[in-house]
Amino acid sequence: MLTAASILLVLFAVSSAQQQQQQQQPNFTHHAVLDPSGKFRLNWLPATNGSEYFTFECVVATRGWIGLGFSPNGAMAAADMVIAWVDASGRPQISDRHGPAQGNAFPPADSTQNYELVSGRKNNTHTVITFRRKQDTCDPQDWKITSDTTRLIWAFNDQVPTSADDIQKHTERGVKSAQLVNPPTTDGMSKILADPSTKIYDMRVADVKVPADKRTLYWCEIVELPQWKKHHVIANRMMVQKGNERYVHHLVVYGCGEEDMSEHLGKPAACFDDTQVFSPMQKCTDYLAVWAVGGEDFVYPSNMGSPMFGDSKQRFVLIEMHYDNPDLTPGITDSSAFRFYLTEKLRPVETGRFTVGMPVTPVHLVIPPKQERFTTYAYCPSKCTSRMTEPMTVFTGLLHTHLLGVAMRVRVIRNGEEIKSEMRDDHYDFNYQSPVYLSKPLVIMPGDDLIVECTYGSMDRDTMTYGGFGSDNEMCLAFMEYYPKRNISSEDCMSFINPEGLLEVLGLQKDQFNIGQEAFFVGSAVTVINQNQQNVTIPNWYKNDLKMTDDMVTKLQDYVKNSPQTVSCALQGRDAPGGNLTDSSFFKMDGPIQNPRPYVEPAAVCAASSGSGSTTTSQPTRTTTNRG
Ligand SMILES: *[C@@H]1O[C@H](CO)[C@@H](O)[C@H](O)[C@H]1NC(C)=O
Ligand SMILES: *[C@@H]1O[C@H](CO)[C@@H](O)[C@H](O)[C@H]1NC(C)=O
Ligand SMILES: *[C@@H]1O[C@H](CO)[C@@H](O)[C@H](O)[C@H]1NC(C)=O
Ligand SMILES: *[C@@H]1O[C@H](CO)[C@@H](O)[C@H](O)[C@H]1NC(C)=O
Ligand SMILES: *[C@@H]1O[C@H](CO)[C@@H](O)[C@H](O)[C@H]1NC(C)=O
Ligand SMILES: *[C@@H]1O[C@H](CO)[C@@H](O)[C@H](O)[C@H]1NC(C)=O
Repeated sequence: MLTAASILLVLFAVSSAQQQQQQQQPNFTHHAVLDPSGKFRLNWLPATNGSEYFTFECVVATRGWIGLGFSPNGAMAAADMVIAWVDASGRPQISDRHGPAQGNAFPPADSTQNYELVSGRKNNTHTVITFRRKQDTCDPQDWKITSDTTRLIWAFNDQVPTSADDIQKHTERGVKSAQLVNPPTTDGMSKILADPSTKIYDMRVADVKVPADKRTLYWCEIVELPQWKKHHVIANRMMVQKGNERYVHHLVVYGCGEEDMSEHLGKPAACFDDTQVFSPMQKCTDYLAVWAVGGEDFVYPSNMGSPMFGDSKQRFVLIEMHYDNPDLTPGITDSSAFRFYLTEKLRPVETGRFTVGMPVTPVHLVIPPKQERFTTYAYCPSKCTSRMTEPMTVFTGLLHTHLLGVAMRVRVIRNGEEIKSEMRDDHYDFNYQSPVYLSKPLVIMPGDDLIVECTYGSMDRDTMTYGGFGSDNEMCLAFMEYYPKRNISSEDCMSFINPEGLLEVLGLQKDQFNIGQEAFFVGSAVTVINQNQQNVTIPNWYKNDLKMTDDMVTKLQDYVKNSPQTVSCALQGRDAPGGNLTDSSFFKMDGPIQNPRPYVEPAAVCAASSGSGSTTTSQPTRTTTNRG
């Protein structure tokens, strides 16, 4: 129910908006199409250059009302919403509202109206409404906009309300994730496309048959690079075959170093099955490019490029495609491609890539079922980063988990104090994985400690989820791109817990399990003698035999955080390719990285006031934030 007071507030907002209509329309820097058929388009200008206001423009194919919301999880409950329309007399109207605490009842109006109309108009087909709001309105009924992934919920109805009391239920609605704050990665694409000196190189898979009898296919193909002179990659674009958007989930391109992969040419295959691995996966480990579902074009800053070609020894790359076919749709064939935009005019700054996180195996990464939040910890300690000879400036990156991921962050601790890192997302969305272009680069100094935290929600799982390549399995990897590039290939820093110790926490005795050589890739390489004296693979043991108690979950959470982990440090180059635990690239830590002084986001400056909520100018003090 709307109260008389809230109607007055709406009217107040309308009249103040009319005064602002003369205001100049900003040039929007960010754009998104929120629905598949392009009926709801959103343009916005983040708070920049000292302005604390975000300005949004909704361009919607309706003459009725339009709704936009910011939601923690895509649902209307607890979302911050704004509804706007152009009324029968042609005047724009706006109403700041919020989702009901639970369920999908009609969103009530906020007690404080924080959305301001800038302008509104409509023609025969479209309504265009521009409004602005502060990044942090200090109103607990509003969403604080952060650099996290934001779920934008949208709705409209062709009905023209006569008042804020007369808004009918939406006829169309949906949800779409977006990065609202970070600079767009696609600035300058039109310039690159128009420049006749831009070259393209496509890495394409050919006629991959997506199976209809299982959900996940990882497809691997070795490609020989042409013998071109050195170029810089200045942009890239995933070209998903039309119609296959639902199935092409992600792609990673790995360099094979100086390995000769010619025997694998023309023999693409599944990257692994239950019993074996496509062998180049173990040799081609230098990650060169990554794209995941939801990802957009990526354009390098105009002074930077990522080197490609020109090294006659590094001839081969591995394309790894992940197909996801949850409905087991038959007859899908795919020839998608990843396109590199290149220039011969080398740019002054060269970029390199490195990865931090956990190895993808069933005995290093485990997430017990029925957990609201379970966090894994990977460490790249000072002992590893101090092998770098100069700082690494991370300007973009991609955080990667699978379906259970709810939050992820890369923390940087320098001299016992955590520094601000934008490589984080407290509202992770598996279906929106786009490289973020950090508004403030993350500088990693030699000697810094890095912690990668992946937080998972497993309430809808009944058995243990474990590290693996399938969508139902999990990963915890942060792919980062930095400058200036160092002159080495393999650049990563991964850490892992002791798998024997893990299995003991899960209640097994040493003589009950066997961890085979290929444990890093294939679940069946780990076998367990179960309570019926059967010799079963670890995935089957997790599924059929393991019963997690609360006490075991507590011990497991403690073990994955605090047990001494082994680090694989390839920030300077491995002593030997595919090195083993006797190499100095591998070392055991004494214990977890401590973070005595965690970074705390400066509190928003929210004016406390007595008569809170009664007018549009006095705002209640914000007591909670969207950030955990
Ligand atoms: C938008 O861009 C145009 C042309 O580049 C410029 O003339 C105008 O002042 C800009 N508007 C604002 C609000 O910055
Ligand atoms: C902000 O200011 C910088 C330089 O001061 C300028 O390059 C940039 O275009 C400005 N951004 C916007 C959105 O006005
Ligand atoms: C109506 O407005 C929309 C959105 O601005 C625009 O794309 C469309 O061309 C307009 N239609 C006409 C007939 O002007
Ligand atoms: C990079 O290192 C290799 C050997 O480690 C050397 O042959 C090559 O010249 C180096 N390149 C540059 C640009 O320093
Ligand atoms: C269980 O089977 C695997 C091979 O399937 C074997 O390597 C392992 O030794 C067996 N475990 C025991 C305890 O017999
Ligand atoms: C590890 O590598 C060293 C040489 O770097 C070799 O002597 C040793 O046998 C290897 N150990 C294993 C377990 O493969």
